[in-house]
This record gives sequence, structure tokens and C-alpha cells, in this order.
Amino acid sequence: MTAPTPRRFPDGFLWGSATASYQIEGAVDEDGRGPSIWDTFSRTPGKVLNGDTGDVADDHYHRWPQDVVLIQELGLQAYRFSVAWPRIQPTGSGAFEQRGVDFYSRLTDSLLEAGVTPVVTLYHWDLPQALEDEGGWTNRETALRFGEYAEHLAGRLGDRIDTWTTLNEPWCAAFLGYGSGVHAPGRTEPLAALQAAHHLNLAHGLAGRAVKAVLGEQAKVSVTLNLHVTRPDDPESAADRNAVRRVDAVGNRIFLGPMLDGEYPADLLADTASITDWSFVQDGDTATAQVPLSVLGVNYYNTARATQWDGVSERQGASNHGESTATPFIGTDDVDFLTQPGPYTAMGWNIDPSGMTELLTSVSRTYPDLPLMITENGAAFDDEVVTAEDGSTRVPDPDRTSYLHRHIDAVGAAMDAGADVRGYFVWSLLDNFEWAFGYERRFGIVRVDYDTQERTPKDSARWYAELIRTRQLPP
Ligand code: NOJ
Repeated sequence: MTAPTPRRFPDGFLWGSATASYQIEGAVDEDGRGPSIWDTFSRTPGKVLNGDTGDVADDHYHRWPQDVVLIQELGLQAYRFSVAWPRIQPTGSGAFEQRGVDFYSRLTDSLLEAGVTPVVTLYHWDLPQALEDEGGWTNRETALRFGEYAEHLAGRLGDRIDTWTTLNEPWCAAFLGYGSGVHAPGRTEPLAALQAAHHLNLAHGLAGRAVKAVLGEQAKVSVTLNLHVTRPDDPESAADRNAVRRVDAVGNRIFLGPMLDGEYPADLLADTASITDWSFVQDGDTATAQVPLSVLGVNYYNTARATQWDGVSERQGASNHGESTATPFIGTDDVDFLTQPGPYTAMGWNIDPSGMTELLTSVSRTYPDLPLMITENGAAFDDEVVTAEDGSTRVPDPDRTSYLHRHIDAVGAAMDAGADVRGYFVWSLLDNFEWAFGYERRFGIVRVDYDTQERTPKDSARWYAELIRTRQLPP
């Protein structure tokens, strides 16, 4: 028997970590920032666990220099952050706020000085509230405004940004925001969710085109999708396979179609025909959405198992997308999501690294010329802080390290099988505001003490730093 050998990653492979504006910044009333839908939603009783809000979060808006030092100390090669649209344009249209631009400009310069590649996301769910008041993503105008915001920012941050990611997980923005209502703005209307999905596709195209118009065709444009890995409960059952096809249509191909193929899949339109005739799609919209991508961002956490519901038994409804009686998978009313076998993370999500390999190989088979990047992968666990006799603290988080280890190995396996994967970003650099779960769920490789704002790298951060230094994943 040969001894297991470490897995080596290519020299150009980019190792990083990711965050998002509303989850870490705080300072929601500073320097002219306008209110976002997450300010409104988190302040609405009952919407977020423990009534948590992003008012202070990790106070990154003030502590960013220290966070850049942390990024540097861990040896991260890239940092993925998002820009809060309401800092750049407080009402989402009209006047721009220079102080907001200055914040991200300083952050970008400081990352570059530290030798860290900045990867920016233009929309990570903090829509200006003023736009929501006009219908939010159900309103076509929002997509047009998003294009203008992207153009403005591209002109200011310019070629200092390596990759321009238009949207983060538009599926969640549309289907959790307007379908199941567990995310802001909390609407539960199937038609609104489909309209929102379409306007997000349009917004992606308009923003990507605006960035290229300002910076040139070579500007790297990307989008980050949370592609669902759903397996049939019984692979022999045509009904179960059909359930998976329908989830894939409304969960994945609703974005992949317009963005990569320039059209909506016919089966999606048929599956949703009782809800809408899709007349909100105007001529040329899907062609606009198909902007050339340098790389596709993929967020991966877990897998799901679907079956055709018999209409009688109690549903398990285990789609891992929050507590709601409304399914976010519009048009799949007779699909049931079955409870997955463990182990689970603190989110209750099953740990299944094989889904990572399966997803990357399947996307790269469908789109062989499209490079991929893991823009998020990581896990929440109930970490414990250990205080040594000398008063120093440590956070031993072997579960998180093991999760990262096994998933990075699964990325390597996909690369061995031919997938063109260019990099990997851990979610998240810091413990932060985990949306409807508030601060109760900790995804950081760095612990944040919310009383003192002290940052403590967890053992997983040390492990990750060593991986980056050696480019070798231990067996
Ligand atoms: C996806 C989202 O992009 C991010 O904001 C969130 O915190 C993580 N997944 C974990 O749920």
C-alpha cells in the first residue's frame, strides 16, 4: 500500500476568503449611507433570530485597516468583499455619495498595498430601501438603476479591481426575498419571485456591460450563483428524476440559461405557466443578460434529495432554505425535499463534499470553456473559546477545519476530472451577521467577540494559512 500523498494545487490557483457589506460593516447611518432592505427587515420583529440587526455587526467600517492586516497575516492571496449600493447611491438613483466611494477606494488601495487581489461583488442583497418602495426587484427600473450604479463604481474603482462580480446568489435574492419571504424584503408572492429573478438576470447583463464599457472588453466580469445539487430519492424513478429536473430549472437554469445561453429554458417556462406567461421579459433582455464571463463564481455548501410528493404523506420540506411554509422553489408544489443523512453543521446543513465534485464536474461538462471559481464554501459550528493560563485565547474548531479540508479535496478531485477551477474562497473571513439567523451562527475562520470586537483567528484559520503557504493539502 502506498502512503497517501498531499494534494498539490497549481501555482496560479487563487486562495482567498469572502465577506459581504451588510454582514460585517455596521455604521449603517454613517457617511450618507441610505437605508437598505436589510435594515428594514432586520428591524421588523420576528424576522431575524434574537432581533439582531446589522447596525454594528463586525464594525468593519471602522476597523477595516485591522482587518486588512489580518488578511495579510493569514497570507490570503485574494479577498472577496461586497459594495453596499446604499453607500454609493443612498436612494438607488440620482445623486452619488463620494464618501461611500472613498471607503471602498481606501480599502482597495490598502489590499493592493498588502499584495491581496480585490474581488468585488456589486450586489450582496442590501438593496436601497427607496428602490424597494417602488417594487424592488419586481420593478424593471431597479435593473436599469443597477446598471448606472455599476457604471459609476467602475469609473471610480477602475482597474484596481481584479474581478467584478455583478450579483451574489440572485436565487436567494429572488426566491428567499420575494418567494418564501425568509430574507428581505420578506414578500411571499410566486409571481414576484419570478419577476425578481428576471430583473436580476437583466441587472447582471446591464452591470456587466457597463463595467466593460467603462474599463474595456478585457475587464473581468463574473457572477456568483448558489447552484443546487439535488439528487433523486430513487434514481430509478422517473417521477423523482422529473422532480429533480424541475428543481434544477427553477433553482439553477433560471440564471444559467439567460446568463450563459441567452435564453430561458423551455421546461422552466412550461413548469411555471400557471403562474405567469413571462410577459415581463422584453425583447433583447436575455441577450443582454448573456454578457461574456471571465469566470463563473460557484457557492457550495450542501446537497438536497428530492422526490415526487404523493400528496398525502406529511412533507419533510427539508430544502435547507429557512423556516417558511412557502416553498422558494416556485412551480414545484408536488416536489418534496427529504431530510438528508448527517453529519450536519450548526445550520442543520448536511456535510457532503461529494456534491462539490459533482457540481463542478457537471457545470464544466455543460460549459467546457468557462473557468470556475469557488466564491464561497465553509461551515457554521458552535465554536468554543479556550482561555489558557496566561490569559491568551484559542478557538479549536476541528469540525470546521475538517469541513474545509474535505471540500478543498473535493475541488481537487473535480480538477483531476478536468474541471477548470481557478480559485477557492472560504466563507467567511469573520464571524458575522448570518441573515435570518443573526449572530447565532458563526461561519468565520476568525472569531469575533461582539462585546469587544476583538478578532481571534480560529485554528481553522491557521490551518488554512498553512495550506496557502505550502499549496499542499495534507492527505
Ligand atoms: C451564502 C451567502 O452569500 C452568504 O451571505 C451567507 O452568509 C452564506 N451563504 C452562509 O449562509
